[in-house]
Amino acid sequence: MKAIILSGGKGTRLRPLTYTGAKQLVPVANKPILWYGIESIVAAGITEIGIIISPETGEEVKTKTGDGDRFGAKITYIRQDEPLGLAHAVKVAQPFLGDSDFVMYLGDNLVQSQLDLFLDKFNSQHLDALTLLCEVENPSSFGVARVDENGKVLELIEKPKNPPSNLALVGVYLFSPEIHHAIASIKPSPRGELEITDAIQHLIDKQKSVASFKLSGWWLDTGKKDDLLAANQIILDDSVESAIEGEVDDQSKLSGRVYIGSGSIVHNSMIRGPVMIGKNCKIENCFIGPYSSIADNTTLIDIDIEHSVVLQGAILEGISDRIVDSLIGERASLKTAPQRPKALRFMIGDDSKIELT
Ligand code: TTP
Repeated sequence: MKAIILSGGKGTRLRPLTYTGAKQLVPVANKPILWYGIESIVAAGITEIGIIISPETGEEVKTKTGDGDRFGAKITYIRQDEPLGLAHAVKVAQPFLGDSDFVMYLGDNLVQSQLDLFLDKFNSQHLDALTLLCEVENPSSFGVARVDENGKVLELIEKPKNPPSNLALVGVYLFSPEIHHAIASIKPSPRGELEITDAIQHLIDKQKSVASFKLSGWWLDTGKKDDLLAANQIILDDSVESAIEGEVDDQSKLSGRVYIGSGSIVHNSMIRGPVMIGKNCKIENCFIGPYSSIADNTTLIDIDIEHSVVLQGAILEGISDRIVDSLIGERASLKTAPQRPKALRFMIGDDSKIELT
């Protein structure tokens, strides 16, 4: 059994962050989203992993993630020249996959791991495809499955107007090599992509065995800001353990689970966990509220922030209002300026979103 993780794509929904970086590398609880997928694949006993990368962000993914040693895996990078669809990514990965069964994992998804149970079902029932499904409130926004009482997949529909069920396709699939024949038989969809749903539908039409597995844990597609903040909240709730590897002075007060990385200095501040602060940060006269992740090398002075994600190297200083539900990009700077006239001055990147009261 091998695995591929799809880490190419356009990332339009997380602009402007994805103008400069891969959305799969945006951190949740200070760890790149992609790495959660790698860890869960390795935990299920699969160590041969291919990562699909794009020409734009591939180098960054490669440099940051490495050859797999740190995960106990062997990672092969596979370049997809254009984001021509999920099934196209499988086609590009075919030389790597050979005639192996494989897991396909979307690199921007976070799934509470049940991969071992998923694998057991696939292997014991000798399936050609196993799709992971999750009940959602808004099935029209997803690929949706119609299944029989045994979980056999009868039909897949991409973003249906009248959904036949509330079971959405989670971005984790298991395939036998049959999928390669199916992909060779399908044509691009109206949006110009080779769709994995069409390939699976082709398997169903050819009476191949396609089953589903209903996820009982959570699943988060981190493509948009609010999803990313929700993912950050869940992971912080699940995983932060208190540790202070940096320095916290006597005027500061920490409560709840707070992690502070090495080289970080906290002065005269109140931090209420769960909160994760990276390495070499400077935190002065701040309140940092629950569900905040502050990445390495950030500076926060006279700031009141909660339920937010601040990326590497950002500088936030002297903002009198509380910052909530925010995602601050790498090296972004948010400050009050002393000069007159008193006014707001911006230099904001394309597609940025600012909400002022
Ligand atoms: P999507 O989120 O469906 O596509 P996208 O990355 O183009 O995103 P957006 O809607 O924000 O523009 O992709 C799911 C995952 O699969 C994501 O990690 C990107 C990856 N992917 C590829 O690797 N190759 C592809 O051809 C496509 C379409 C996606």
